[in-house]
Amino acid sequence: MRRGVSMKITITEMTPEELPEVMELEREVFSWPWTEGMFRDEMDRDYSFIFLAREPSGLLVGFICFWMLIDEAHILNLGIRKRYRRLKIASKLTLAALKFCCLRGAGAATLEVREKNNAAIRLYKSLGFVEAGLRRNYYESPPDNAVIMWRYDISSGLEKSP
Ligand SMILES: CC(C)(COP(=O)(O)OP(=O)(O)OC[C@H]1O[C@@H](n2cnc3c(N)ncnc32)[C@H](O)[C@@H]1OP(=O)(O)O)[C@@H](O)C(=O)NCCC(=O)NCCS
Repeated sequence: MRRGVSMKITITEMTPEELPEVMELEREVFSWPWTEGMFRDEMDRDYSFIFLAREPSGLLVGFICFWMLIDEAHILNLGIRKRYRRLKIASKLTLAALKFCCLRGAGAATLEVREKNNAAIRLYKSLGFVEAGLRRNYYESPPDNAVIMWRYDISSGLEKSP
């Protein structure tokens, strides 16, 4: 598929049975992947959610993990399979998470992202997040600063998203 073209995907909430597939994808996406225990911890928290994106064949192509904390959404982790990038899958997963939190009373959304992760920063800016601060030397392996980003009005434009 061509870069920038939207791909048809199905988004569902992760179940414990899907953990092996999510781990396979996590290891493909990140050089320092979350462990199974970290995913299990998130599934055990009643304020934590993981949404999965599958292409029509059923292949898992992406996931997002986020917290819904009182009136704020926090995005913790987002990954898309390498050969499925630039097909708006991350955009759709993020908007699905924002919509989910908005419907449950969140007014704003925040996240931290590596300062050197240009792709992710551009993605979040394209979704209405703005840079709001920097945590120096926040990340290890490799060392990096964290850019704090906020989408102050979570609801803006969500009515147009699928
Ligand atoms: C960052 C990531 C999630 C983007 O996923 P994706 O599905 O390819 O993103 P989308 O197709 O929704 O991109 C939407 C927009 O974001 C920007 N963008 C996404 N990837 C980009 C890249 N590599 N370079 C520049 N801009 C990029 C573009 O503006 C893009 O729109 P366009 O394709 O019409 O130009 C993906 O590259 C990934 O999994 N990276 C490794 C893990 C990671 O960094 N996760 C984020 C942790 S905070």
